[in-house]
Amino acid sequence: MEKRVQLYEGKAKKVFATDDPELLIVSYKDDATAFNGLKKGTIAGKGVINNKMSNRLMKLLEASGVPTHFVEELSDRETLVKKVSIVPLEVIIRNISAGSFAKHYGVEEGIVFDSPTIEFSYKNDELGDPLLNEYHAKALKLATDGEIQLIKKYSFKVNEVLKEFWKSCGVTLVDFKLEFGRLSDGTVILADEISPDTCRLWDSKTGEKMDKDRFRRDLGGVEDAYRKIMARLEEHYEAAVGK
Ligand code: TMP
Ligand code: ASP
Repeated sequence: MEKRVQLYEGKAKKVFATDDPELLIVSYKDDATAFNGLKKGTIAGKGVINNKMSNRLMKLLEASGVPTHFVEELSDRETLVKKVSIVPLEVIIRNISAGSFAKHYGVEEGIVFDSPTIEFSYKNDELGDPLLNEYHAKALKLATDGEIQLIKKYSFKVNEVLKEFWKSCGVTLVDFKLEFGRLSDGTVILADEISPDTCRLWDSKTGEKMDKDRFRRDLGGVEDAYRKIMARLEEHYEAAVGK
C-alpha cells in the first residue's frame, strides 16, 4: 500500500491517502489535548500504545459482530483503515458516574449504574462539542433515524464486549466515547479509536485511574499508566480472542 498525501491532522492523529481510494492510513501521535484543546501536552509513547490497543479492541469487536474501519496494522504508529466520512456525533456510553456526568448532575464519581447510559454530542470544536439528543441530531441532519438506531445498537454491543474483556484484565470500564463513519456505499461502521484517550479505565481492585484523566487532572504517572494498561491488555488478549 502506497502512502500518499496527508489529508488531515487532528489533535492525536494524522490521516494520509493511499493509492486505494477506499483506504486511508492513520498515524498516531504522542500529542495530547484536553478541554477542547485548551490544555496541551505530550505523552511519550502514547501513539504506539493507542494504535496497538485500538487495533486489538477493534479486532475483538469485529469478531463479535461490530463492523469497524480496521484493516491492517502497518507499523508501531500506523494503521490501514477503511475510508469513511465521519458521522459528526460523539457517542458516550457510561457504566459508572464520572467526569462530565458527575459534574452536570452533581453526584460523586463511582456510582455504578443498573444499566448503561448513552448520550450524544455534536462533533464540532468551534461549538465545544455540545450535547444533543436524537431529535436534535435528526433536525440538524447529522444522521438518519436508521443510522442513529444502528449506532445505538452497536454502541451498547461495544460496551458489552469491552466491559467483559476489561473485566478479564482486572480493569473496570467506566465510560468511553465512540465515533462512527459511513463507507462510500453508506454502510455505517465503527471508526476513530478506542484507547486510554477515549475511555475511562480503573483498576478493579485499587480504583487507580489508568487513562487520560491522569493527564486531564494532572495526577502524574501518565506515561506509566498508559504502559500499564497496555500490558494488562497484552496479558489477557490472546485468551479473549481465542474464545
Ligand atoms: P466526559 O465525562 O468528559 O464527558 O467524558 C466521557 C468519556 O468520553 C471519557 O471516557 C472520555 C471520553 N472523551 C473523549 O474521548 N473525547 C472528548 O473530547 C471528551 C470530552 C471525552
Ligand atoms: N478531545 C478533548 C480535546 O479536545 C480531549 C479530551 O478531553 O479527551 O482536547
